[in-house]
Amino acid sequence: MILRNARLAGSQTLTDLGIQDGRIVEVGPADTAAETLDLGGRLVTPPLVEPHIHLDAVLTVGQPRPNVSGSLFEGIAVWAERVADLSYADVQARVRQVLRWQLACGVQHVRSHVDVSDPQLRALRALIDLREEARGLIDLQLVAFPQVGMLTFATGRDLMRQAVELGADVVGGIPHYELTREDGVESVKFAMALAEEHGLAVDIHCDETDDDQSRFIEVMTAETIRRGMSGRVTASHTTAMHSYNGAYAYRLISNIARAGLHMVTNPLDNAVLQGRFDTGPIRRGHTRIKELQAAGVNVCIGHDSVMDPWYPLGYGDPLQAAFVLVHLGQMSGDAELRRLIEMITVNPAAALGLPDYGLRPGGPADLVVFDAPSEADALRLVAPRTLVLRGGKVLARSTPVQHTVVWGGVEEPVTFVRS
Ligand code: FE2
Repeated sequence: MILRNARLAGSQTLTDLGIQDGRIVEVGPADTAAETLDLGGRLVTPPLVEPHIHLDAVLTVGQPRPNVSGSLFEGIAVWAERVADLSYADVQARVRQVLRWQLACGVQHVRSHVDVSDPQLRALRALIDLREEARGLIDLQLVAFPQVGMLTFATGRDLMRQAVELGADVVGGIPHYELTREDGVESVKFAMALAEEHGLAVDIHCDETDDDQSRFIEVMTAETIRRGMSGRVTASHTTAMHSYNGAYAYRLISNIARAGLHMVTNPLDNAVLQGRFDTGPIRRGHTRIKELQAAGVNVCIGHDSVMDPWYPLGYGDPLQAAFVLVHLGQMSGDAELRRLIEMITVNPAAALGLPDYGLRPGGPADLVVFDAPSEADALRLVAPRTLVLRGGKVLARSTPVQHTVVWGGVEEPVTFVRS
């Protein structure tokens, strides 16, 4: 197969890509193949990577009751009621639907947090089996996530250990939700020790609050340095960093860079859940993305929720989350628009430790074609993915909608791309 006139992300020139035995090979203008496709200058990226979603909660919006206020805390209360009704089949049915949505958007790798506060670990068991079913289509990493804290009830830490023994890939945490600051510190140390003992990665919901006194990220940073776990640790949300004073944030960010932490920001949920206690001006509630990036820290975009008690909208498209971050993160600069595409592709691929990722001769023929000529246009249009390949095989495709207008009595086609 030959794909002609691809506009690879980060490049201004057009490239031809050959695909042979599932991998990318170099081709020249005279080469032929059984199938040749002219991409017409469309943007091509490696697969989208979702570093932070809660698959166990997807599609539960309104169950058993709506989140009337829309707040984080009412969401946690509604979810606690819904967990009582969870079943293996219920989780699998909802997740199978959303995995298809993600695949249609070009996502091929997903890290999902899974609530392990349930003594029977029903959601985790359902997702471990789905992980096998979906392998090779959309690969899952599962995080043992203690939604209501791990020291807030007697068996919390036992459930974390059980989740790891059952097959969780990553150890999670939620220190800002523990009963005391000291418990929060202990929960981070427990998660890091458990991960180190089992050779796993760590991904902690850290400081997801507007409270400028919530500083568990510094504990994660110190533990990562002391245990030599650089590259295996991710801090998600860290919205409180937005409110830290400048002197503290400066020292913290340089230590985060030294520790080699990966950071995940979740623009959709953060936008609607943070700043709820402000009466005006209302803080945006996003972490310090630009300062982290300027210090060389790997920052990724997560979707977080799809139609659940915390966020009622979404269909699992990382590009939609990136579009929102253009505005709330004020990332509308020319280079920043390109960086946003990296934040849903190569950056989360590094955070997830994907071993064979990226478009290069000899690399896997895993790629996504956008119906847009550039990163900026892909974001502007939240452009459809026209073709998704994995190992050179088609996993998803779409036929873009054809719009027409009647102008001066004549019906004519219209596209949203500048001519
Ligand atoms: Fe989350």
